[in-house]
Amino acid sequence: NSVALTKMRRLNHTTILSTFAAMNTPKRYLITAALPYANGLKHIGHLAGAYLPADIYVRYLKAQKRDVVFVCGSDEHGTAIPIQATKEGTTAQAIIDKYHPIIEQNFKDLGIEFDIYHRTSDPLHHETASAFFKDLEAKGDLETKTSEQYFDEATSTFLADRYIKGTCPNCSHPEAYGDQCEKCGKSLSPEELINPVSTLSGQAPIKKETTHWYLPLNKHEDFLRQWILNDHAKDWRAAVVGQCKSWIDGGLLPRAVTRDLDWGVKVPLASGAGKVLYVWFDAPIGYISATKQWALNNGKDWTPYWNDKETKLVHFIGKDNIVFHCIIFPIMLKLHGNILPENVAANEFMNLEGDKMSTSKGWSIEMDDFINKWIKKDNGGNGLADSLRFYLTAIAPESKDSEFTWKGFQDSVNGELVSIFANFVNRTWVLMHKLCKGKVPAIHIEFLDDEDQAILISVKESKEKITELLEQYKFREAQFEVINLARLGNQYMQKKEPWILAKNMETDPTAQAKIDNTMHACLQLCANLAILINPFLPFTAKKMCYMMKVVDRMLEWENAGGFNLLKVGYSLRPPELLFRKIEDEEIEAELAQLKSNLNAKKTTMDNITPAASPSDAKDKGLKPEIVFDDFGKIDLRVGTIIDAKKVEKADKLLQLEVDLGTEKRTILSGIAMHFDPAAIVGKQVVVVANLAPRTMRGVESKGMILMAEDANGKLYFVQPSEAIAPGSTIS
Ligand code: 2FM
Ligand code: ZN
Repeated sequence: NSVALTKMRRLNHTTILSTFAAMNTPKRYLITAALPYANGLKHIGHLAGAYLPADIYVRYLKAQKRDVVFVCGSDEHGTAIPIQATKEGTTAQAIIDKYHPIIEQNFKDLGIEFDIYHRTSDPLHHETASAFFKDLEAKGDLETKTSEQYFDEATSTFLADRYIKGTCPNCSHPEAYGDQCEKCGKSLSPEELINPVSTLSGQAPIKKETTHWYLPLNKHEDFLRQWILNDHAKDWRAAVVGQCKSWIDGGLLPRAVTRDLDWGVKVPLASGAGKVLYVWFDAPIGYISATKQWALNNGKDWTPYWNDKETKLVHFIGKDNIVFHCIIFPIMLKLHGNILPENVAANEFMNLEGDKMSTSKGWSIEMDDFINKWIKKDNGGNGLADSLRFYLTAIAPESKDSEFTWKGFQDSVNGELVSIFANFVNRTWVLMHKLCKGKVPAIHIEFLDDEDQAILISVKESKEKITELLEQYKFREAQFEVINLARLGNQYMQKKEPWILAKNMETDPTAQAKIDNTMHACLQLCANLAILINPFLPFTAKKMCYMMKVVDRMLEWENAGGFNLLKVGYSLRPPELLFRKIEDEEIEAELAQLKSNLNAKKTTMDNITPAASPSDAKDKGLKPEIVFDDFGKIDLRVGTIIDAKKVEKADKLLQLEVDLGTEKRTILSGIAMHFDPAAIVGKQVVVVANLAPRTMRGVESKGMILMAEDANGKLYFVQPSEAIAPGSTIS
């Protein structure tokens, strides 16, 4: 029927026109994601805050064949690094060398695909940051000022940023740092802290004179008002503009851009000996150094990305970084003659099960843990990386704080990815193999009906909507639209019921033609879904390409909206499992794990904090002193492991049978990640024999095995020097 065909053609034409007319496409894009501190593992709140939305945006731009470079890397300076080194009993260099590759690999495993993941410890960055500072200094854009700053006499150290703690003047949090309160997010200077103490010695600091370079933010107020509150009031997120407005209205002050520290980019002036650039001065310059390194690696010119006004620069960050990306760095860029960001897409925070995520408090899900426990356990398959990406985007904190719950993760994956998206694709594939011989069936125009028309129109409309939402950084809604399209696909198939038609093949001579039409539409819809889901769930899109036997080029955005993506007669592969269901037990295990992490950290903290007198602090984390009677309460015995096996659905637990001489005990031990059960049978161990029993995963554990742990987290058995009778006492 030619009416349907004409309608289709017209629709194609108008869609293309309206999509392109609405967009004023920049010549090139430079996308940055906040450089994470290489001082520890990063959690899924970080992932959801900056890296995942940036990756979605970049994948979309690349599918649009735009010229785009996506840069990130490790932030390896600042006091956070040497402080972690002290905690781990090692050097700052060892800390960054340890965490940089782990974080980089974690991002890869979760499909975050940077064009470069650089390091601020790289000489290229040191050169770039020094030159930047020198340029501003030479032009007279910086000021020097001598002032009294906090100094720790016990350690002869000026107390920059995280070396000083005290009560937050904003929210009264007693553990605020000298640069920021992690509770309320307010950016602070050490002078603002109430009752400051040195984190090095635990002592109250004195004031001592020192000279530093300052960036006079106050001189740039007019520029900021015009640029943010006027030019970008409408296109930036309201919370970002709001935070900037309150900073500007609160009165901008000159901000020190150097520190008395020996870890960082050295101040490149004779008068700056012993000082380094403030980490927040050098880190954002890291975006420039990363671009330079990318250009070197790829034989490109980096300069237009930072100097040409036709570049669209977009920063993706968490809300705690707003002031640095919207106020301080733009002033630096303006003074240095670079382009300014077109947008700063800052997210709010993602909480976890009702509380703020915090690695130090044990209340977080590290990317590394998720990868090891979920993705690697399933051999990298079953779409678990994409399942996490999906849920994090479904609850993206784009306009307000959001909340990760394990139950929510389960509901989202099982209820949307599995039951809607994967279900539609899977049904399509199974039916196509069953009813169309595994090939893309032909269209029989004479049997096309209104429902076929409607699904075609829905695809085109969805594409338009999704495109618009992505261009506006509304990733949560955009992803929702893709799922909605899959939902429509299910409804369409349900209405058409090709399986019923198949039963009437003998009586209805038009049955096969109608089945073909339905399955053709479903397959073309699947191809469209692959393109549209690709920015969000790249592993899934790839798998779908494999099933369709098409190359990745099919995922180019311009192909979406078309209904001729798969050629008639083309034979397709069998269906792949796109996602697996998340089971109740897995969720319960995660919740139990979270609580036990929290308790473990709490015990350590409770034991250390009250004793934070100067001498104890120097002992690097020893627990408070006890008397002999405290020790005497513990009954330690030598035992021999006589059997060991894994505990079902508990990755970390081994169930041990231990011979204690007079009795045999079942003891659960969290060492399954470290030892092969078969290899430890026969080993002698030290058992805390009078520990109250505890039931885990339905098994009662009577006692505890003592283990030693080195700085890398490797575990060792504590054993008598020679084999002795089980049950022997230890005192
Ligand atoms: O908050 C942070 O984790 C910082 N390391 C972010 C730096 S972003 C940029 F400026 F490098
Ligand atoms: Zn606070």
